[in-house]
Amino acid sequence: MSGPKVLVVIIWILRGAASNTWEIKMPQKIDVISGFCVQIPCQFEFPDTFKKSLNKSVEAMWKKRSTYGANVLSSEFSLLKGNVIGNILNKNCTTVFHNFPAEFSDIYFFRLQGPEPLIYTFTDGVNITVHKDVPPPILNPHVQVLEVLEGTKLTLTCSTVISCPSIQPLMHWNPQLGEQLTPALQEDEFGQTLLVSSQMFNATPLNDRLKVSCSLLYSQGAKRPVETSIILRVLYAPKNTIALVSPSGPVSEGSVVILSCHSDANPAVRRYEWYKDSGSGKLELQNQGQTLTMTARSNVQGLYVCKGFESMPPLTYATLRKTSDSVYNVIQTRGSGTEEDYENRNLSKHKPKLEPWPRS
Ligand SMILES: *[C@@H]1O[C@H](CO)[C@@H](O)[C@H](O)[C@H]1NC(C)=O
Ligand SMILES: *[C@@H]1O[C@H](CO)[C@@H](O)[C@H](O)[C@H]1NC(C)=O
Ligand SMILES: *[C@@H]1O[C@H](CO)[C@@H](O)[C@H](O)[C@H]1NC(C)=O
Ligand SMILES: *[C@@H]1O[C@H](CO)[C@@H](O)[C@H](O)[C@H]1NC(C)=O
Repeated sequence: MSGPKVLVVIIWILRGAASNTWEIKMPQKIDVISGFCVQIPCQFEFPDTFKKSLNKSVEAMWKKRSTYGANVLSSEFSLLKGNVIGNILNKNCTTVFHNFPAEFSDIYFFRLQGPEPLIYTFTDGVNITVHKDVPPPILNPHVQVLEVLEGTKLTLTCSTVISCPSIQPLMHWNPQLGEQLTPALQEDEFGQTLLVSSQMFNATPLNDRLKVSCSLLYSQGAKRPVETSIILRVLYAPKNTIALVSPSGPVSEGSVVILSCHSDANPAVRRYEWYKDSGSGKLELQNQGQTLTMTARSNVQGLYVCKGFESMPPLTYATLRKTSDSVYNVIQTRGSGTEEDYENRNLSKHKPKLEPWPRS
């Protein structure tokens, strides 16, 4: 036989034997709150040859620390109070321990103690960790700060494992945004119960730096809510761009005029540019910076355009125009269009009415 053929046969044998092994399915780890109960979801498999031995005289036991450890639950001696609530005859070893004590964090092993030959301790244990305080819920996405673009549809999901089904907390969002799905119970792959709630909303600039929390309140134990929060950062392109003029109102020829540009953006606009419309619709760069300083003269008359940059720069306009002999007026306009809009304006009937520049 060649190598690969041998391999195939071995795999086939192992697969055929899968129903012939001792296996236990339960969570690897359970977090328990001190004094609360704990329910261990549990299901086992054993070799078919023991099928006939599984009857009512088989006892379900739990051991602690190792497969040879002390009995924590058995008919003769128990360190803990509890019951196997699953039906052993259906291979269901689901167990509840009551009032789980703080000092009992350990690995627990399930054992079938039947009349010979069905005596076996499953080698995969469950790591039970006892907490003094209620563990905070888990928020998804699992980050402290969530950066999103304005308009992004967000779904925040809050969940907690209910290790003691008889004590369920209240789950609450603060603030409540958009649409909430009422907290509902779900089961994970190991049969553990989860309490899950989601809220869905569109991120707006008003949500920037908002702390969104999900809290749990148990009626037993410490009656303080525990919470997990996420901070939202909502990014948006420059908007409400305005041009301010100093001094405002008419100025005499030769005086200094300062145009300054202001835009709201997150993150803040890092680069401003001032352009002058050459008269043919083409924009000529005048200054890279938030302000443009000019001396009022005929040759500086015209339409000025400011751009604030992050991603899509909206435009704002300011017009410096001679109103009478040696007096110029600056007309400022609030703009929120894009560069493309500006170019379209030049082609359309809404072309800004500019007087021909008087030559000086
Ligand atoms: C359970 O099975 C064992 C053998 O595996 C047998 O000795 C015992 O009598 C059975 N008990 C009951 C209650 O059927
Ligand atoms: C095992 O028993 C528990 C308790 O009765 C039950 O909630 C669970 O659904 C059972 N699991 C299976 C797989 O039948
Ligand atoms: C059980 O879980 C606790 C908490 O996560 C951990 O510190 C400990 O090492 C685990 N024990 C074993 C044997 O894996
Ligand atoms: C703007 O309009 C002028 C005159 O109507 C025209 O000559 C020019 O080509 C236009 N510019 C652009 C960029 O469309």
